[in-house]
Amino acid sequence: MEKVKLEDKTFKIFIEHTEIMKAADRVAEQITADFGDGKDVPIILCVLNGAIMFTAELLKRLHFNVQLVSTKYTSYHGTVRDGHVIQTMGLTTDIRHRKIIIVEDIIDSGNTIAALKRELEENGATLVKVCTMLFKPDAFINDYKIDYVGINIPDKFIVGFGLDYNEIGRNLNDIYILDED
Ligand code: IMP
Ligand code: MG
Repeated sequence: MEKVKLEDKTFKIFIEHTEIMKAADRVAEQITADFGDGKDVPIILCVLNGAIMFTAELLKRLHFNVQLVSTKYTSYHGTVRDGHVIQTMGLTTDIRHRKIIIVEDIIDSGNTIAALKRELEENGATLVKVCTMLFKPDAFINDYKIDYVGINIPDKFIVGFGLDYNEIGRNLNDIYILDED
């Protein structure tokens, strides 16, 4: 589909599914280089809801033992980031002495992952790595390292492949940008 309409807004195609798959291949290769020796069973921490699609793609490509855990943070309203990060579902697993790879759909200001990293470190994780499908370098206002980046994008609002506009659009197989951009 070249264009999609979600509520009041029209979006046009921005990143095709095949490009997302290539990004998943690259990132999975890097994670395998770091953890594939099987010495540890790292936690793949899916940040719901947005990262659900990319996390699934990574899992299909990791051929060593990992444990899947999820947590949920909320930060956006419509297309406007309001700087406010709320944890709406906590960790359901003891993460003490564990190595963790956070998987995000997109890192924008970086505040969500800053809050999550803090929580993990305070709760005794031994190593916290950050992986994101998409990264907006021009919007990033934090200073931690992002270990695995799928694709860098400009500071524009996008939807699809997990990302939503008012909770819709997550099931789109490609990634779309606002038509006026
Ligand atoms: P951050 O805390 O500013 O890095 O924002 C991260 C969260 O905001 C992501 O996990 C997304 O859920 C959401 N988000 C950021 N940018 C976009 C976007 O362009 N479209 C949809 N959601 C976004
Ligand atoms: Mg998210």
